[in-house]
Amino acid sequence: MIKHFFAAITGNVVSLLGTLLIVISLLLIGALLVMQGMGFEGGAYLGIITFVVLPMAFLGGLILVPVGLWWRKRRDAKLAATGQPSGHLPVFDLNHERTRGVLIGFVALAIPVLALAAGLTFKAVHYMDSDEFCGMACHKVMEPEYTAYQRSPHSKVGCAGCHIGAGAEWFVKAKISGSWQLIAVAFDLYPRPIKTPVHSLRPATGTCEQCHWPSKFVGDRLKVRTHYAEDEQNTEMKTALMVKVGGSAAGKSHGIHWHVDPNHTIRYLADPSRETIYEVELNDPETGGKKVFKAEEAAPAGSEWRTMDCIDCHNRPSHIYRSPQFEIDLALEEGRIDRTLPYIKREGVRIVTEKEYASHAEARAGISAAVKAFYAENYPDLADSPAVEQAGKALGDAYAWNNFPHMKVTCTRTTSGTRIHRAVSAATTTSTRPPTAKRSARSAAPATTSWRMKRAIPRCCRN
Ligand code: HEC
Ligand code: HEC
Ligand code: HEC
Repeated sequence: MIKHFFAAITGNVVSLLGTLLIVISLLLIGALLVMQGMGFEGGAYLGIITFVVLPMAFLGGLILVPVGLWWRKRRDAKLAATGQPSGHLPVFDLNHERTRGVLIGFVALAIPVLALAAGLTFKAVHYMDSDEFCGMACHKVMEPEYTAYQRSPHSKVGCAGCHIGAGAEWFVKAKISGSWQLIAVAFDLYPRPIKTPVHSLRPATGTCEQCHWPSKFVGDRLKVRTHYAEDEQNTEMKTALMVKVGGSAAGKSHGIHWHVDPNHTIRYLADPSRETIYEVELNDPETGGKKVFKAEEAAPAGSEWRTMDCIDCHNRPSHIYRSPQFEIDLALEEGRIDRTLPYIKREGVRIVTEKEYASHAEARAGISAAVKAFYAENYPDLADSPAVEQAGKALGDAYAWNNFPHMKVTCTRTTSGTRIHRAVSAATTTSTRPPTAKRSARSAAPATTSWRMKRAIPRCCRN
């Protein structure tokens, strides 16, 4: 009986191919799983092969087998109709013990195979939500976001936590746009840098607020920043900031998080890049009041309303690019750069920003050489010290963690100072409230002011 069953599924080219695909992919998956179980670390690509590529081959095989059987049956039927002798036409006569045997054999085999396929699909889907897949499958494409993410306060929060959130509806949406993204990557159709996903990003109630909720923020937060001066001693300075985080407490909201008090909503009308705001509307269902702030300039066609949520301020919660100054201060504070090296802050900023490099390897080599050259010329005793070598490496990191030339995410010095170039839409922060707008709303007179929202925290770096 088993012999007959194998004869059926291998009796024509298509089914045979399907059977081979099934067997080979299963063997490979099994072998790879055993390897991974034994602690073999293959990285993201091994995962993609085990949980995505091979299961697809396996499913392809499962489809090919019956297609082949059907195709042969049809061909044989045609041959029979024209009176030509056909091959071995499968006759499904359940009166035959043998046919029943084949049927039972097929069902008995299909059940574990289907169970396995389901399990693998589950694993594959799960895997496609992992940070490893998100960040690495599109390695070059999302390198800037992934690099920044790994060093962010959210490095242990999955990409999906913010980009998808829980629930079937957003999951399906994400898979649909994800499929398009895979095609875009395969055919090199994606924009550089990647555009902000803000228009399709799930509202913060389904993402950020799963972990941070407005009533949780209460009170002030003291932030202490360490800077180093650009003098010979790299003099240390501290800045203390009392940040009025606020939130809602005792039924009233205060501080910056007044903006996300669930008892009122704020919408704004802006150009699609969210750079220029034309109208701001505050709805307060408790008082039934509605305040509108209008710019003098009428909103051009294509402007869009957006309900303000967390990411209108926290536009870089996870993909935080740091300015060279910030990055070098951090390296000095953490001891990755020796603080006793004369002028290392000033020279570090100069060296990291003076040139653009085509690749990270080139940048690291160029930056190390430039650091060495500075000390060779000005402090020859130090030029060959391990401190200079280490500073070269740390400055190379400072460059590589924030500059991704292939994605057009770079940070270089321009005549107006250090600028971060990121040719995507810039976000807005409402913390720079236009002073005149407030007045015009109070007086209920038609607003006559026009303003451009300034970014209090540059979108790309945290200073
Ligand atoms: C804490 C939440 C959060 C996490 C975690 C997160 N992202 Fe994002 N991501 C955002 C937000 C918010 C934006 C949009 C910012 C804007 O445009 O205002 C964004 C934007 C992006 C963009 C568009 C380019 C850009 O920089 O604006 C890419 C690509 C991206 N994320 C990929 C990833 C990947 C890959 C991971 C996981 C390795 C990840 N994100 C994890 C919140 C997050
Ligand atoms: C799965 C849980 C989770 C989600 C979703 C999440 N966060 Fe966080 N967030 C965290 C954790 C954990 C920290 C780190 C807390 C700490 O270090 O004290 C954090 C820290 C922060 C911080 C403080 C960073 C700092 O410098 O101290 C901000 C701001 C923030 N998140 C904003 C957001 C925003 C905006 C979103 C939505 C786009 C978001 N978070 C989504 C878990 C989450
Ligand atoms: C109007 C701008 C604005 C909005 C909207 C906003 N925040 Fe903030 N948030 C701030 C500022 C400013 C700070 C303080 C600066 C900092 O800590 O970096 C802050 C601080 C935080 C912190 C760290 C504070 C702490 O107590 O440790 C978290 C977490 C956070 N916000 C999450 C959120 C979430 C979640 C939302 C959406 C529900 C949100 N924020 C909406 C401006 C805003």
